[in-house]
Amino acid sequence: MSGTLRHPAPDEHKEALARLFDRSAPTYEKVGVSHFDALGRQLVAEARVREGERVLDVGCGTGAVLVPAARAVGPSGSVTGIDLSAGMVERSRAAIAEEGLGNARALVADAETAHWEPGPPVDGTFDAVLAGISMFFFPHPRAAAARYRRLLADGGRFAISWWGRQDERWNPVFAASAPYGGASSHRLPPDSPFRSVEDLHAMLSEEGFSSVDTVERTCVTRFRGPHQWWQWVWSTAGRQFWESVPEDAMADAVKAVEAELAGLRAPDGSLTSRNTVRFTVAEAAR
Ligand SMILES: C[S@@+](CC[C@H](N)C(=O)[O-])C[C@H]1O[C@@H](n2cnc3c(N)ncnc32)[C@H](O)[C@@H]1O
Repeated sequence: MSGTLRHPAPDEHKEALARLFDRSAPTYEKVGVSHFDALGRQLVAEARVREGERVLDVGCGTGAVLVPAARAVGPSGSVTGIDLSAGMVERSRAAIAEEGLGNARALVADAETAHWEPGPPVDGTFDAVLAGISMFFFPHPRAAAARYRRLLADGGRFAISWWGRQDERWNPVFAASAPYGGASSHRLPPDSPFRSVEDLHAMLSEEGFSSVDTVERTCVTRFRGPHQWWQWVWSTAGRQFWESVPEDAMADAVKAVEAELAGLRAPDGSLTSRNTVRFTVAEAAR
C-alpha cells in the first residue's frame, strides 16, 4: 500500500489503536480459527519461560501469551499482562478467571512506558518480557526496548513475535481490495526496526541486549471458506482497512475480493495462508 499516507502523531496513533482493538476484542480468536493462541504458546516456548519466573506480557490482548506463560511459571511465579485496549484487558481477565490462574493479572497500561499505579514496576524485577505480535504497533519501539532492558533482571529474556514474509498467493486478494480503502494498522514507519531482522537485532544490541537471535517458522492459518475468512478479518486489526472503505464502495470491494478468494480455495472449499512468523529472543546480561 502507498507509503505516502501520513503517519499520525504517536498519542493519536495509540488512542486509535486502542479503540481499534476494543472493537476487535469481542470476537478476537473466537471465530473458530486458531491463530494467535498457537503463536502465543510458541513465544512462551521460545522464551524458555520456567517455573517460578516473573513475567511481563506487553500488549497482552486476550491472553494468547499470558495464559500459557502463567501455566509455565506455575503458582510460585507471576505474570502481569498490560494492554492499552480496555476491551482486550477485559478478555484477558476473563481468560485468567476461566483458567483459575491465581498468579496472573491484566492491567490497562501503555506498553511503551510500562508504568502503572498503584505498585509501579521496579527495575530488575522481571525474568522475562514477552511481546506477542504487538511491538511493531508501538510508535517508539526503541524506547520500549530500553525500558524493558531496565525492568529485566540479570540474565532475563526479552522475546518478541512479529511477521516476516507474507504468503504471496494472497497478494491478489489484497491488491483487489486496495483501491477501495486507505487505512492499515500494519503500515510500518520508515525508521521501524521491524523492517528487517538485521534492523531489529541492531536496535536490541544498541539498547544493551546480548545473544540476540531470531528463528523463523511458518504460521499456517486455515479457514473453512470465505465466510469464515471474513469473520476472522473483522476479528483482527485487519478490520481497520475495511472500516475505511466508504459505504457506497463496500459491495464492489467485497465482490472484487470474493473473486480472488474463489481462486485460492482448495477442493474442499477451504482457504489456507502460510505466513512467516519470527521469534526474536534477546538477553539482558549485566
Ligand atoms: C495483535 S494483538 C496481539 C495480542 C496478544 N499478545 C496475542 O498474541 O494475541 C496486539 C495487541 O497490542 C496492543 N497494543 C498495541 N499498542 C500498545 C501499546 N502502546 N500499549 C499496550 N498495548 C498495545 C493492542 O491493544 C492489542 O491488544
